[in-house]
Amino acid sequence: MSTPRSVVPETTTVDRQLAADVGSYLTRQPRQLPSKYLYGDLGSTLFEAICRLPWYDIARAEQQLIDARAADVFARIDPIATVVELGPGSGLKLAALLAARPARPLVVHLVDVSGPALEAAGQVLGPFNDITVVPHETTYEAGLAGIGATATGDNRTLALFLGSNIGNFDPQGADAFLRQTRDALSSGDGLLLGADLLKPEADLLLAYDDPLGVTAAFNLNLLERLNRELDADFNLRQFGHQARWDAAASRIEMHLVSLRHQRVRIPAADLDITFEAGDTIWTESSYKYHADQIVDMLRRAGFATIEQWTESGFALTLAQAY
Ligand code: TRP
Repeated sequence: MSTPRSVVPETTTVDRQLAADVGSYLTRQPRQLPSKYLYGDLGSTLFEAICRLPWYDIARAEQQLIDARAADVFARIDPIATVVELGPGSGLKLAALLAARPARPLVVHLVDVSGPALEAAGQVLGPFNDITVVPHETTYEAGLAGIGATATGDNRTLALFLGSNIGNFDPQGADAFLRQTRDALSSGDGLLLGADLLKPEADLLLAYDDPLGVTAAFNLNLLERLNRELDADFNLRQFGHQARWDAAASRIEMHLVSLRHQRVRIPAADLDITFEAGDTIWTESSYKYHADQIVDMLRRAGFATIEQWTESGFALTLAQAY
């Protein structure tokens, strides 16, 4: 058994970058903020709660697919010596996948911007024999670049990108990200991609604006983070959460809406912003796909799909680098 190492941030760029990104994104039209900043310590915890909501089917559908198909993944990409998960969150999906692995030592790289999420995922993997966990507290991009092609000889790497996190990139960004993932891998390596499928608008709106208000709290946590880390003075009670469906773009948009005319100062980003009632900050998008769009997207990035399993409007796709 390997004890997870304590997590040391690999870069301080995330924090210094926060002020720079806020300065750049909040002054665009429409105003926006990069979604990765939703996932601080509090945000990651709120997100775990979202995954337990009865209206958010993604987490359950994906867990079912992984439980049912984990052994197939190891059979199709063989022998796997390295697993890289981008954004492991609680680590529960990864644990379910690894429970089906053949008996063979495995190095597992976890890449996440949240230190506590990495600790939690490391803990979940603690009981596994023959697994060495290597945490990377950084962005997906820096993590991929840092891990590089680690596999040697016939050994293969399996990359995991689950939770429909791919849908949080716009189509161009998703293509670029998948190509970057491909470049960090070698020919024959695998990618297991979880992506949400197009479904009725009413279901989508409930998934992203739940009646318990957990998703609203998740979204608003970003403003609390700016207050805490950048000394901003957002009054959280004067902003609301809004989920919008853009059918033409096939995406849910998550916004923070100003509930009145107000002025906000963000000293660390040197900003002084006036919001009118109804003005919004666009914090995240979640694109929804047809199953074959996922196959096409993977092909454009250099991956051939070898299996695609679907369940309750969600697709788990196993692809192999050309
Ligand atoms: N990857 C998740 C998704 O697209 C992220 C997410 C969960 C999310 N809840 C959200 C994105 C609410 C926007 C709004 O489903």
